[in-house]
Amino acid sequence: MKIQSIILAAGQGTRMKSDLPKILHPVCGVPMIDYAIEAVKSFCDDKPVVVVGHHAEEVQKYLGNKVTPVVQQQQLGTGHAVLQAEGLLLGSSGLVLVTYGDMPLLTSETLARLVETQKANSGPMTMLTVMHNNPRGFGRVIRNNQGTVDRIVEEAQATPDELAITELNVGAYCFQNAWLWDNLKKIKVSPKGEYYLTDIVELAVTNGQAVAAVVLDNFNETIGINNRLHLSEAESLMRKRINEKWMLSGVTMIDPASTYIDANVTISRDTTLAPNTSLQGNTSIGERCHIGPGSVIKDTKIGNDCVVLYAVTESAVVEDHVEIGPFARLRKGAYLSSGVHMGNFGEVKDSVLGPGVKMGHFSYIGNAQIGTDTNIGAGTITCNYDGKNKHKTVIGENVFIGSDTMLVAPLNIGDGAKTGAGSVVTKDVDENTLVVGVPAKPIKKIK
Ligand code: UD1
Ligand code: MG
Repeated sequence: MKIQSIILAAGQGTRMKSDLPKILHPVCGVPMIDYAIEAVKSFCDDKPVVVVGHHAEEVQKYLGNKVTPVVQQQQLGTGHAVLQAEGLLLGSSGLVLVTYGDMPLLTSETLARLVETQKANSGPMTMLTVMHNNPRGFGRVIRNNQGTVDRIVEEAQATPDELAITELNVGAYCFQNAWLWDNLKKIKVSPKGEYYLTDIVELAVTNGQAVAAVVLDNFNETIGINNRLHLSEAESLMRKRINEKWMLSGVTMIDPASTYIDANVTISRDTTLAPNTSLQGNTSIGERCHIGPGSVIKDTKIGNDCVVLYAVTESAVVEDHVEIGPFARLRKGAYLSSGVHMGNFGEVKDSVLGPGVKMGHFSYIGNAQIGTDTNIGAGTITCNYDGKNKHKTVIGENVFIGSDTMLVAPLNIGDGAKTGAGSVVTKDVDENTLVVGVPAKPIKKIK
């Protein structure tokens, strides 16, 4: 049976008090709308239709071709919002799943239950409800004497008796396609001037058609985000969910409460994450690594058997058996080959450190290429910037750069060369040559 989906995301999100559209606010590093898209993706046949409105351009730009967007010019309510998708979905057979873009914790398993229930339902729709004592502004579910759903009443219109009802409308529905479009148009405007999607329930029931309900027992899944308090609740629940997933797949966390992992990060088994560690963006970590404490790893690919201690890295690649830190920084374009040892207070940017390179203490390496097994002495600096342009430093294999050497780029240092402590190297150095002094001069061939 064909299943299509609509995600409502046109609302203003006024209570976020933000210049950023609500559905683009990140939860564990990913805009909340992405979770809604991900949740429907596995069982919907086509791309989801996303109804955008407020900040439509910015939202559409972010969504790109992941979805089919449709614009709701004026936000006249959730019923009106769904109607905007009619032109795209009318005429198909099958089912239409409708969810809201601000409920990132709702899982695809729950939505699948909704779809399965509707497949077995003789009536035109199934809705998702949850039992909870704190209604958080949700619509209340009114059931009849037989215990089946009669209607939904919005909080603003509810009587005191209705307000006391603890079964709440989550805001996810599965409809028969043709029936949805016929009945959406029959929804009357509410006292608030909006067309409530929720009024469609009563339309079905008065017509003698059964509305089925899936009752969810996990309230945490249903948290809708309307303000920054809700955002922080969603963030910590999502973090817990992500951490549990990685621990159950073989990652040790010494203190899960202070371990922050973005939704798109991947980690392999037998890696240990120490406290106060944040893995962000598109980071991947290999097997048997020890990361942290105190590390912020962003968009970085780390291989197997690496140790990273008190480090900040961004857009870097680290191969296997590499040691970084304590107190190390990798910036964009840093590439550390297998067996590199990068000790304390080092910074690497736009540079390739070949296999086995050692830079133990206090160095800055920028726009450089360093050959296999070269040793970078304490306090070495690549002087890569002349005030206008960046220049490259190329250092060969098995080179020994003495402590406190200034390498004034552009510069080539041949294989097997050596610099004396405190040298300021301004001219290329031939292979197997020792240079010393300021400016550095060759004094002998080493081999
Ligand atoms: C809605 C439900 C309520 C439910 C609650 C769960 C209705 C009438 N009420 O109320 O029963 O308990 O969600 O969170 O549906 N939107 C549009 N266009 C509009 C209006 C809203 O796209 O014109 C989108 C919003 O961006 C949001 C979603 O629809 O993603 C829900 O709208 P919101 O205003 O948050 O509805 P609630 O008052 O929370
Ligand atoms: Mg809401």
